[in-house]
Amino acid sequence: MTTTLTRVPLLIGGQAVQTGRHDTVTNPFSGEALYQVAQADAEHLERALEAAQTALAEYRRWPAHRRADALRRAAALLAGRAETFARTIAAEAGKPLKAARVEVARSVENLGFAADEAAGLSGQGIPLDASRFGEGRLGLTLREPRGVIAAISPFNFPLNLTLHKVGPALAGGNTVILKPAPQTPLTAHLLGELIAEAGFPAGALNVLHGGGELGAALVSAPGVALVTFTGSPQVGEAIKRGSGLKPLVLELGNNSANLVDLDCDVRLAARKLAAASFAYQGQVCIHPQRLIVHADAYETFKAAFLDASRALVVGDPLSETTDVGPLINPAALARLEAWIAEAQTLGGRLLLGGVAQGLLLPPTVLEDVPEEALLVREEAFGPVAVLSRARSWSEAIAAANRSRYGLQTGVFTQNLAHALEAVRDIEAGGVIVNDPSTFRVDQMPYGGIKDSGFGREGARSSLEELTYLKTVVLS
Ligand code: SIN
Repeated sequence: MTTTLTRVPLLIGGQAVQTGRHDTVTNPFSGEALYQVAQADAEHLERALEAAQTALAEYRRWPAHRRADALRRAAALLAGRAETFARTIAAEAGKPLKAARVEVARSVENLGFAADEAAGLSGQGIPLDASRFGEGRLGLTLREPRGVIAAISPFNFPLNLTLHKVGPALAGGNTVILKPAPQTPLTAHLLGELIAEAGFPAGALNVLHGGGELGAALVSAPGVALVTFTGSPQVGEAIKRGSGLKPLVLELGNNSANLVDLDCDVRLAARKLAAASFAYQGQVCIHPQRLIVHADAYETFKAAFLDASRALVVGDPLSETTDVGPLINPAALARLEAWIAEAQTLGGRLLLGGVAQGLLLPPTVLEDVPEEALLVREEAFGPVAVLSRARSWSEAIAAANRSRYGLQTGVFTQNLAHALEAVRDIEAGGVIVNDPSTFRVDQMPYGGIKDSGFGREGARSSLEELTYLKTVVLS
C-alpha cells in the first residue's frame, strides 16, 4: 500500500495513471499542502469506461460466493488498515480522529453487509398460473447487474459513503467508475488499491479525480448504466438534467428537524442532540439543525443543550480529544457566516459561538430565528443549531414538515401516541424515535423524499437499485 504519495494518481484498469494536470489538496485545519492529485480529462474517462466494460465482461459471470468472498477479503484488509484510513480521513477531510475511526469501523461492517447481500442476492418465483393464460409455465425473476456504475461520492464520509456505492455495486456484479470528492482523493485511492488487492478483476473499480467538468462527462457517457450520487441538491439537479434516461440514486441532504416533547428526559435529549449537532462540525446530511422543543420544556432544554455544546473540544482533528474540527474550506465558512448574520438581522438571537478562528467555527446556537432565514430553510452543513419552541406536538410536527427536504428526523418522546403520530405524519425517509436524526447503522435503508433525493442506500436497498429484475418464463 502506498501512503507516502506526493502525487495521487488515477486508477484505471488496475494501473496507476499520472496525468499532465494536478490539483493540490490541503489539510483544512493547518492549511498545509498534503499532496497533488492527478486530474482526469476526456481521454482518461474513455480509458476508464473501456476498462470497466472489459472487467464487466468477466466479473458479471462470477458466482455469488466468489463476489461475497472478495468483499469479505476487502473488509478484512480494511480492518487491518483501519488506523491508516482514519488518519488519512482526519488529515484531508478534517474529521476528528475519534469520528474518523468510527467511520472506518462502520465501513468494515458495511463491506460485510455487502458480502452478505452478494451471497443472498436472488429473484423470486412468479405464480404464472394465477392467470388462466399462464398455465403450464414456470415464472421467475433474476437480479442482473446493471453494468458500469458511475459513483460520485462526497467529502464528508469519504470512505463509508463511497462504500455505500462501491460495495453494493460490486456485490451485484457491476463494475464502477468512482469520482470521489476533490477534497478527499487519497482515501479513495487507498480504497481503490485495497479493492484490487482483495482480488476483484482489474478495472472492477476505477478512480478518476476531477471537478464538475469530469462529473458532467461521466454522468452523460453512453457506457454508464446508472449514476449514484451523494451531494448537494444543485449538483443533483445538474446530474438529472445531464444523464438522459439513466436510472439515478440521489442523496441530497437535509436540514434535519429534531423534536423534543415535554414527556421525555429533556436533559438527556439535550446532551444527545448537542453531541449529534456538532459531530464532524455538522458536516453530516442528517445533523440536527432545527431543534423544535415543546415550549414548557424549552428553558430546561436550552440550558442543558448549551452546557453540553460548550463542553465539546474544538481543535485539531488529528488530536485524540477533538470533537469539532475545521470546516472543509473557506467558502463553506464564508457561507455559514453570511447565514448566521442574516439570521440575526431577521431577529434571531445568537446564544453561543458564531465567531471562527481560521476554519474552526465552534458550536453555534441561535434562537428565535424566523423560518424565512436561510439557516432554517436551507441545509447548513456546519456546526450550527437553531432552537425554536412549539406549543403542541402537532405544531412541532407541522414545523418539521415546513421544509423542502425530507431525509431523516429525530423525535424524543415517551408518549406512545406522540411517537406514533410522528411516525405517521413526519415527511421524511426515516423517523428515529429517542435518538437524534443522525442515528444510522449501515444495513438500514437510507434515503430521502422531496428535495433530499430518491433511491435508498444500505446494502439490500442499494442492491435493488444497482441491479435490475429480469423476468424469465419457461414453457
Ligand atoms: C450523510 O451525511 O448522509 C451520511 C451520514 C452517515 O452515514 O452517518
